[in-house]
Amino acid sequence: MDELFEPLRVGKLDLPNRLVMAPMTRSRAAAGGLATPLTAEYYAQRAAAGLIVTEGTQPSVRGQGYVDTPGLHSEEQVAAWRAVTDAVHAEGGRIFAQLMHAGRVGHPVLYPDGGLPLGPSPIATGERLFTPDGMLDHPVPREMTREDIAQALEEFADAARNAAEAGFDGVELHGANGYLINQFLADGSNRRTDEYGGTAENRARFGIEVARAVAGAIGPERVGFRVSPGTTAGGVSESDTPELYSALVAGLAPLGLAYLHVMEHDREQTRRIRGEWPGTLILNPHPLPGPASGTPEAGVDALREGLADAVAFGRLWLSNPDLPARIRVGGPYNEADPATFYGGDRHGYTDYPVLA
Ligand SMILES: Cc1cc2nc3c(=O)[nH]c(=O)nc-3n(C[C@H](O)[C@H](O)[C@H](O)COP(=O)(O)O)c2cc1C
Repeated sequence: MDELFEPLRVGKLDLPNRLVMAPMTRSRAAAGGLATPLTAEYYAQRAAAGLIVTEGTQPSVRGQGYVDTPGLHSEEQVAAWRAVTDAVHAEGGRIFAQLMHAGRVGHPVLYPDGGLPLGPSPIATGERLFTPDGMLDHPVPREMTREDIAQALEEFADAARNAAEAGFDGVELHGANGYLINQFLADGSNRRTDEYGGTAENRARFGIEVARAVAGAIGPERVGFRVSPGTTAGGVSESDTPELYSALVAGLAPLGLAYLHVMEHDREQTRRIRGEWPGTLILNPHPLPGPASGTPEAGVDALREGLADAVAFGRLWLSNPDLPARIRVGGPYNEADPATFYGGDRHGYTDYPVLA
């Protein structure tokens, strides 16, 4: 397991190990999209990670995709996050905010004006939003105009500046799992006929422009980018995954970003992207066939194979705040409880035990 404990430089940060905490939505923000003292406790408990990536955080009102998720578009939100980053830094950790614009995976009930969510094309997800009042169908989104696109780029850049002001070490752009950037990438959700639709290069354009805008705002060494080649999350479908991600990687490569984060669906895609991406690669090894899926062993295998520079885990970090210490002694690991993933109080959030 020694490979996991080698230091790694990412952007201008020195990580003491290669164990990244993957972004995980926990839907426990206070009214107004505010992180809470419990949020600070949760992340500070996990400060032994080489890098923490926060839950998806909306860069704008229209970027919200779930109930009780935090934002980075108001002064109150910045102040609330400041307490979180201070707590993590006080424990010696490093933390990036994941900027997540949900796009069509949104719903009028999430926005004060009750308007429609935005998407690259007027195509619904075919999925539903969980609310305390029951499940609601995602509506057909409003097709983004050029003005909407320009505004979204500004919102991402502003949110990144806010993240820096809140004390984050950087931001990760959520280009994975069927949210807005992924909706532009995937031809199933993007039927545009302008320069943002059609060819793989055109569908990659929005994500690359977001990355460029955010890198311009806070410096490329403080910006990561997450992808999930081949995902069907949020109802997206990609008919040309290899060409699509080659186009995206080719556009991102010259920007000098801190890292590319691959949420894996298919090892072949990971291998190809590893060959094409010139920078640091963080791999979330999941789901792989066989028992090694999403385990420390799968992470070590990926590092040994040279597939990645660091590995990200989600559920292992969620339920094991002292994950590095547990890996060093070969476990045991607490099981993550899906019933407490989203919403609720400290139960299933800050009360997972550490090793004696
Ligand atoms: C409760 C929960 C919330 C998640 N929320 C996010 C999110 O906000 N952003 C994101 O990019 N991925 C999210 N994911 C995906 C994880 O980052 C990770 O890719 C996934 O759990 C698979 O990795 P694992 O097997 O190590 O858990 C979430 C996963 C879980 C379990």
